[in-house]
This record gives sequence, C-alpha cells and structure tokens, in this order.
Amino acid sequence: MKVLVVGNGAREHAICWKLKQSKNLSSIYCAPGNAGISKIAECVNIKADDIQGITDYAAKEKMDLVVVGPEGPLVAGLVDLLTEKNIKAFGPNKRGAKFEGSKSYSKDFMNKYNIPTAKYKVYTAPQQALEGLKDFNLPIVVKADGLAAGKGVLICQSMSEAENAIISIMKEHQFGDSGNTVVIEEFLDGTEASLLCFVNGKEIIPMESARDYKKAYDNDLGLNTGGMGCFSPNPIYTKTLNSYIKKNIIDTTINGFLKENIDFRGILFIGLMIKNDEAKVLEYNTRFGDPETEVVLPRLKSDLLEIMLKTIDGTLVADDLQWIDEKSVAVILASGGYPENYEKGKEIKGLDEVEDVIVFHGGTSLSDGKVVTDGGRVLAVTAIGETLKEARKKVYDNIPKIHFEKMEYRKDIAKIN
Ligand code: AMP
Ligand code: GLY
Repeated sequence: MKVLVVGNGAREHAICWKLKQSKNLSSIYCAPGNAGISKIAECVNIKADDIQGITDYAAKEKMDLVVVGPEGPLVAGLVDLLTEKNIKAFGPNKRGAKFEGSKSYSKDFMNKYNIPTAKYKVYTAPQQALEGLKDFNLPIVVKADGLAAGKGVLICQSMSEAENAIISIMKEHQFGDSGNTVVIEEFLDGTEASLLCFVNGKEIIPMESARDYKKAYDNDLGLNTGGMGCFSPNPIYTKTLNSYIKKNIIDTTINGFLKENIDFRGILFIGLMIKNDEAKVLEYNTRFGDPETEVVLPRLKSDLLEIMLKTIDGTLVADDLQWIDEKSVAVILASGGYPENYEKGKEIKGLDEVEDVIVFHGGTSLSDGKVVTDGGRVLAVTAIGETLKEARKKVYDNIPKIHFEKMEYRKDIAKIN
C-alpha cells in the first residue's frame, strides 16, 4: 500500500518508522516531514494545514491511505475532504475532531454524559467571564476554547491574574478567534497521565499507558511545553484505576458518541488527572500525543498499518493490539529558550554516533546537506529496556554524543525511585 503521513514532528517520525515495519506497506510519503523523516519516507513539500493541497496530492498520487498526525488539519476537516474524494484517511472527521477543537463542546459533552471532569462554566462575553470568576476558588484555570498550540490554558494563582487572563484571551485576542469563548474551571490536583486509544466507530480500545512531562525544567519547574519527555508504561495505572477509567470514562464516552451519532474513527487521547485511584478528564485530544507516540509505538508488537485499516473499517478488537513487556523512555532535546523565544538553523552533530537508541526528529530540516534545528522541540531520543531504569540509562548515556548550540533537556525524565 502507498501511504501518506501528514505532519512534521517527532510524532510523525515515529508513525512513519512504525508503518515502515508493516508487511503491506509498499511506499511511504510524508507532507511536509523533516530531516529525520526524509531518511525513511519521501518528503513532499506541502504544509500540514494546506488541506486542499494535501487532498489534491493524495488524489493525484493515488494514495491508498492518508494518516493525519496534527490536530490543525483534523479540526479543519482534512479527513472529510479526503473521504469525499474516496481516499481512505486515518483520523476523525471534523465532527469528531471538535472534541479537541472546542473545549466548551467537550466539557458540555462530559457534563451531559456524567464523565468525571473539573467543574466549569463557559463564557462568550468578557464582562460575564470577569463576573463569573467569583464563583471559583483559587487557583482558577482559564482556557481559550479553541486550538492554541498547547498554550491556551492559564493556571491563575490570584484573582487579578485570572482577570488579566480573561482580558488577554477575550479582549486582546492573544489566541485569535480561539479565545472568543473561554472555559473557566476549578483547579484539579493530582498526577497527570495520558491515555491514547484507538476508536473504531463503536468501541474505544486503549493503548498502553504513558506519562508525559509538560514543564520545561527539572522538578516540573518552568512553563508548560508540548512535552519534554515521556515513558511507558505508567506505573500509576493500577488495576483499580484501570477499572475506574473503563467504567466511568471509556464506557461513558463511547455511549455518548453513539447517542449523539458521532462516528468517531481514529485516535482519542484522554488527558487525565489522577488522585487516589480515581481519574478526571482534563481534556480530549483527537490525535496521537507528542511525545507519547515516541514511547508507545516502539512498544507495539502488532502491525500499525493493519490496526489503522481495521480502525477505519470498524473491525479493530482489543486483541489486535499486542505489546512488548520492555519499557520505553524518550527525552526531548530542545532549543534553548523553548517554549518562548529560541533560535533555529543550528547544526546538529553526533547523530551517527548514538547506539541502541532511536532518535525521532521533531524540529529539524536539511540545509546544505546538514541537519539543522528548525523548531523548539528538536529531537526525541528514545530507548527500550528490560526496566525503565535500563531504558533511561541508554537515553542519558547517548545524549552527550549529540550536540547543537543552546541544546537543553530535562535530566529527570523517568527518574522513579
Ligand atoms: P488541557 O489542554 O486542557 O489538557 O490543559 C493543558 C494542561 O493544563 C494540562 O495538561 C494540565 O497540566 C493543565 N490543566 C488543564 N486543566 C486543568 C485543571 N482543571 N486543573 C489543573 N490543571 C489543569
Ligand atoms: N503531549 C501532549 C500532547 O500531545 O498534547
């Protein structure tokens, strides 16, 4: 089969890498891809958000399957466009992607179907939102409704911070139209966990669990990022927690989809806050997580292409997902200054010197034949080991072999006593 993967991050590198192992894959393309992806797939110079350009290319090249990585094109309706042209596409349609594209829509759905989540209110006018703050205790969480590249959630420690958050989102349009509506919600404490699931239209089938590290610096200090490291499986997933999640979150979510006639096929990524073997949903995403994908796919024994096709035609069952027992760890090498301002175009050295790790490329590109930095999260150095400790050691033993100017990374990923 001829497959086109859409996107240019380490997530898409991991998807391409795993698809390359599929027995029915004949050729693989990636739009637009990056320097690392170009070693295993043919990169096509079309941006992921150019949904018409991607559809035209997929039709012209007679792709058998298009796998959509990022949320932007999903929310914009890429899968709907491809389906109209009779091109098979992996990822939810526009209606399904709304669970990531609108936080108020998701929260109203959770509320309607009794899915545990933080208490919240939705506002479409700044004055009402400001007045609504009095109904919440500090800290208060203020969220822009729409997509904001992971930056649209502000955790406010004082009332004036919360007021400023509302003013900057709703009046100063910090996140553009994504902030025309805001969700204000109670702060939840606990431990976060990511649960990625395949959804085949009528059933939600979870993958192995993962733990993401969202803060920029060691000991969870600094700003929120897209994710600075990850490991799988996540030991917080006790049997008790698992059955709680199945009963209160997975079953209720799929029942809601069925009641609302939402034909969801693709990935549902459930962001959870865990406390005392119970969980609340922080958010739904409708795509693979990054860096979760970089630790979850290397542990998947089964054929990813087959799984994706079965997800689309509705025949995927839990037994189709087989996992290796080994553990995985990924550490992100970032450009100094990320998630705020950082420089690009720095030459990356030492990529050929690493051993026993997989280096998934995120923000990289080729310039005069050299691999250079081209984003905030540059590389995901990933390893598999009998134990988490062994996987972690492999990653951290290899990182010093890689170098680019102002490279930064967390030293405490998967450091579990
Ligand atoms: P979201 O995009 O809604 O997952 O939010 C991004 C991040 O903000 C989450 O991964 C949490 O770290 C944090 N967050 C979101 N909502 C809450 C909440 N109600 N309480 C505490 N932290 C939250
Ligand atoms: N790692 C979090 C995300 O992909 O949204």
